[in-house]
Amino acid sequence: MKRNETSWEAVSNWYDDLVGEKGHYYHEQVIFPALAPLLALNEKSRLLDLACGQGILSRVIPEKTTYLGIDAAASLIRAAQSHNKKKNATFLPADLTEPLVLKEEPFTHATIILALQNIAKPEMVLNLAAKALVKGGKLLIVLNHPCFRIPRQSSWGVDPAKKLQYRRIDSYLSPMQIPIQAHPGAKSSQTTYSFHLPLSHYTKMLRDAGFQMMEMQEWTSNKTSQGAAAKMENRSRKEFPLFLAILATSMG
Ligand SMILES: C[S@@+](CC[C@H](N)C(=O)[O-])C[C@H]1O[C@@H](n2cnc3c(N)ncnc32)[C@H](O)[C@@H]1O
Repeated sequence: MKRNETSWEAVSNWYDDLVGEKGHYYHEQVIFPALAPLLALNEKSRLLDLACGQGILSRVIPEKTTYLGIDAAASLIRAAQSHNKKKNATFLPADLTEPLVLKEEPFTHATIILALQNIAKPEMVLNLAAKALVKGGKLLIVLNHPCFRIPRQSSWGVDPAKKLQYRRIDSYLSPMQIPIQAHPGAKSSQTTYSFHLPLSHYTKMLRDAGFQMMEMQEWTSNKTSQGAAAKMENRSRKEFPLFLAILATSMG
């Protein structure tokens, strides 16, 4: 995959509208409330937000935390700058799979929120995070759960005899590059990519980049169904997490 081909430049207006000032539904309801205690940011923290999109994370962190957000999509970086009201938040357009020297280093925290699976060479992003962090610095990765949410390879099914909704997984161990129509109904040029990797690849990539894994959390949707299928839908929503959060520390 060529340089910047995974950038969300082509869908930047749609994505900025979707996320808005406060984040999309799952940012607001699931990801940010669960992420806050894991990062435990304060006024002395220095946060590097990799593949920051339109900078939503910068708007929900403590006022005085220093923040640098980087994304390949120049339009999303411009959107981030126009949303920004904090003087210690800055944004940089850059491809994270290219060599990058950050004059703002070192950082105490790094985040990659719903983005590592959109980048062709995730190991480059982890290497950059390792280089940018102080020894013992925290890295938090939030993924669409790689076991249960694999585009085109996972879906819901209903077993009428057992009266349950199950998750069907058609393939898991094979790495895959999956084209995604990021803006449903739009032209075919507005394709983004999802890169599926099984869990064991993430643990290996983290170790190779010099991280020690501290914790994994699996976050479920807080939505509830009404109507005839509510019982089985609510049960399966609690059984199959939407997101996997991985907290790791830099070994220096
Ligand atoms: C789903 S968006 C997530 C953005 C943000 N973290 C959020 O939670 O809203 C994925 C982002 O990855 C960025 N991206 C993809 N490939 C990239 C690359 N090689 N370098 C930097 N950013 C990249 C895209 O431009 C897009 O903004």
